[in-house]
Amino acid sequence: MKKVIIVGSLNMDLSIQAPYCPQAGETLSGSGFLTNCGGKGANQAIAAGKFGADVFMCGCVGKDEFGQKILQNFQKEKICTDYIRKVENISTGIAVILITKGENRIVLNAGANAFLQKTDIDNVLSVAEKGDIFLTQLENDIHEIGYGLEKAKEKGLFTILNPAPANIAVKKYFQFVDLIIPNESELNILGGTREIMNAGVQTIVTTLGGRGYEITDSYGTTKYDCIKVNVVDTTGAGDTFCGVLATELANGKDLKTAAFFASRAASISCTKKGAAVSIPSRKEVLDYKIN
Ligand code: RIB
Repeated sequence: MKKVIIVGSLNMDLSIQAPYCPQAGETLSGSGFLTNCGGKGANQAIAAGKFGADVFMCGCVGKDEFGQKILQNFQKEKICTDYIRKVENISTGIAVILITKGENRIVLNAGANAFLQKTDIDNVLSVAEKGDIFLTQLENDIHEIGYGLEKAKEKGLFTILNPAPANIAVKKYFQFVDLIIPNESELNILGGTREIMNAGVQTIVTTLGGRGYEITDSYGTTKYDCIKVNVVDTTGAGDTFCGVLATELANGKDLKTAAFFASRAASISCTKKGAAVSIPSRKEVLDYKIN
């Protein structure tokens, strides 16, 4: 099996549920406050680990309690933490999440994530071999992420970009991306499938929330449905999709099969609260009874 190398963000998620989104100046009673490990990079690493990948995570945390908890969580999932740097005098990344009717709104404080350096990426890529999978997102500085994509491509890795949150500055790095996984709004911000493919990306998997996903390549676009579940919290569903898809590709599966498993895992993750904590294992996905 090929390795899955993930460069990305590590956050502590502070989430609360509310009946609706409050107006400016309004105070509203919420419920179900949770402190959970999150961050798009970290969630994708946990998803890959739960699906049995050999995962190497690269990123930064603060020298604080949240950073410590994130590292412990990775160790529990047998994810290599050797390439996670602890930054002095800065807090671990924080995401404040408001959940209303199963949907989330997120405010980020990047904290240590903003301190990711090219040398961190060089270090993790020192373990990489041709054909390994490189997966990244956009919660760190775009230039470091772009550097990672370029170096990974140079080393012959298969590069996957989850362009979340969307940032048009990433377009100049599309030449180093083999597969991109946006959601619909990210796809629109980045100019749509034609523009992305013209910039050099061979394949696009667009996630469509409860409507499934689409695969676009040089032959055209095919739409696939997802399974229907009772949605409690969608936080981390896109990350579950990316981490599982990367793992299945590392296992030698073709893209269609990989996306099928990724979609199932993402749907099931929506049936529980939280991000990393809601990600199902391979066994849970295989055993899941569809209503
Ligand atoms: O994609 C979900 C993640 O986005 C959350 O875990 C939060 O940390 C933000 O990064």
